[in-house]
Amino acid sequence: MQISPSILASDFANLQSELEAIATADWAHVDVMDNHFVPNLTLGLPVVEALLKVSPVPLDCHLMIDDPDRWAPGYAEAGAGSVTFHVEAAADPVATARAIRAAGARAAFAVKPGTDFAPYEELLPEVDMVLVMTVEPGFGGQSFMADQMPKVRQVREAVRRHGGEIWVQVDGGVAADTIEQCAEAGADVFVAGSAVYGKDSVPDAIADLRALALR
Ligand code: DX5
Ligand code: ZN
Repeated sequence: MQISPSILASDFANLQSELEAIATADWAHVDVMDNHFVPNLTLGLPVVEALLKVSPVPLDCHLMIDDPDRWAPGYAEAGAGSVTFHVEAAADPVATARAIRAAGARAAFAVKPGTDFAPYEELLPEVDMVLVMTVEPGFGGQSFMADQMPKVRQVREAVRRHGGEIWVQVDGGVAADTIEQCAEAGADVFVAGSAVYGKDSVPDAIADLRALALR
């Protein structure tokens, strides 16, 4: 069970200290948005390169961008521990996943709430993680979509059939009242933005989520 706090909910004017605040987490989730694939703009490779110099935990980069085939390998080359691209945006997901791995990062693909997983099951040999979105990508602080739990189960079953160690990540609206059903459905990496940075004690929020995921 791993916790990946999303810095999208943190104070962008103090990213170094916001990263230091999540030193007890497993990853720092970095939401890259290009205002094309999603209707929001956040940060890109230059900021990720700066974060890599100061982060106490590896970066889990979630690319909500068009043309990830072109951009995703650069995040791996920069030193991100994990790079996730959206299948809806990738022209050649196999080549993109291979390029991410060749650059030394874990590769992952994401599916939006309206995207079926089944057509992408054949990508499992190419990746280390599958991200099932539990909100429409683009913004933090949205309501958790419990109707995505069957998809989490479906991915977990496919991963089990496939064998090997592939993680199943959920992202969006994951909080104390929703994390248990995600774990029960088979998720093992939990992204949480507002449920971590929105709390008075960030370390306590991480510890509480971890305990709930393990229940
Ligand atoms: C949404 C992002 C999420 C977001 C989660 O598009 O991918 O990572 O930061 O934020 P919360 O946990 O607040 O829903
Ligand atoms: Zn994300």
